[in-house]
Amino acid sequence: MTMKITPFSPKCGVTINNVNLANLTDREFLVIKQAFIEHGLVFFRDQNISPEQHKQLALRFGSIVKNKIFKSLPGYPDIAVVSKDKNQTTNIGGGWHTDHSYDDEPAMASILVARKLPSQGGATKFANMYAAYDGLSPGLQHTLASINALHANDHLYGKGGYFDGTDLADKLAENVEVSAAKHPAIIVHPESKRKVLYVNKGHTVGFEHWHTDEAFALLNYLYEHGSKAEYTCEFNWQPGSIAIWDNRCTWHFANNDYQGEERVLHRITIAGKPLSGVLL
Ligand code: SIN
Repeated sequence: MTMKITPFSPKCGVTINNVNLANLTDREFLVIKQAFIEHGLVFFRDQNISPEQHKQLALRFGSIVKNKIFKSLPGYPDIAVVSKDKNQTTNIGGGWHTDHSYDDEPAMASILVARKLPSQGGATKFANMYAAYDGLSPGLQHTLASINALHANDHLYGKGGYFDGTDLADKLAENVEVSAAKHPAIIVHPESKRKVLYVNKGHTVGFEHWHTDEAFALLNYLYEHGSKAEYTCEFNWQPGSIAIWDNRCTWHFANNDYQGEERVLHRITIAGKPLSGVLL
């Protein structure tokens, strides 16, 4: 059976069928990698991969980022457990964000594997930041190209940060390592060479040389813009579902609409390189 790639929604993601991620040939991996670069978001159904096979799949893309924020799967320090128990009300990733934009070398990709799902709800929304960039006016594209955005995560994961005050604090790693970084607001994607809007609501905390209120006036406009229906899609998890997304050109948002039920996914994050902006 040959692999089949079909659009998931007009501007957001593709589904790849007729492939077994537990036993990939080199050729199949190249097709997946190509789809990942082209679309930034690939979905798979009906897979059955062990934590070890999850890790081996990730290593085909590149090296794995040390998980510094969430508790890891016992025996697998590279696998972050993204979970919410029946009695917890807060979830991980419940707002638009890009994984690890607060690192100097932001993550290339994340691979999320469904392990335990609620009877309904718990979908993940994604947004395509190539399309969001393309939808901006040439004037705003040009202005943004001269801006460096500041990213951080202490407001979420640090002492006194958002998670500290929630019922999800026990999902954080024992020694959370917070970080902060600066990246161009418009990056040139290192592999596709296309321009991308690279700010996100979860982790962008301002613009270099701008007052905070000025920066947030523009950032809030960009968050509204990037989350328009035309740039987004929603993936309903099923047993055996896997999503691989490119953190350099997507946002994602985990719906928290399954109170009273458990949801567990395993995430591996793959290392990227420092990001470059547009030469003006
Ligand atoms: C994440 O934000 O990486 C987790 C997304 C999800 O749980 O759907």
